[in-house]
Amino acid sequence: MTVVVCPGSFDPPTNGHVDVFERCAALFDRVVVAVVANPSKQPLFSIDERVGLVRAVTAHLDGVDVEGFEGLVVEFARSRQATAIVKGVRGPSDFDYEWQMASMNNHLTGIDTVLVPAAPAVSFISASLVREIARLGGAVDTLVPAAVAAALKEKLQ
Ligand code: PNS
Repeated sequence: MTVVVCPGSFDPPTNGHVDVFERCAALFDRVVVAVVANPSKQPLFSIDERVGLVRAVTAHLDGVDVEGFEGLVVEFARSRQATAIVKGVRGPSDFDYEWQMASMNNHLTGIDTVLVPAAPAVSFISASLVREIARLGGAVDTLVPAAVAAALKEKLQ
């Protein structure tokens, strides 16, 4: 059985994240989406809210679990007996950042990272732009699942 860990801040989960979750669910037996408890920046949504939102947007997928975590992603992956870490990449700048993290994580424990190129239809979406657009009153319903759009509306009212 191939278990992979899909880590991120997911503040909030976007249609780009859902694309990666769906493709992981098709490729691997079990996918553990790992929501980082303390991202470097102050998150808009709490860890419990982000875990709840990721659960809502992956409810249609078999074999996908969602957990919050603190600490190193490699230790979380080891504790779940994961074969690999999976990340989505939207373009060259993401690749540079992901390449460095993948190399560091491999150096730390030997775990490999599988990089999934974002689907062109969602490759321009980022959680930070979604937050900014929502904060400024713009429409985000084509960028995030309906449950996330509703949560953003409620949070920013
Ligand atoms: O969605 P993001 O913010 O791009 O995700 C970044 C994340 C959470 C995957 C990364 O910051 C991470 O792995 N954090 C956990 C702490 C850790 O393991 N840091 C060392 C990475 S080499």
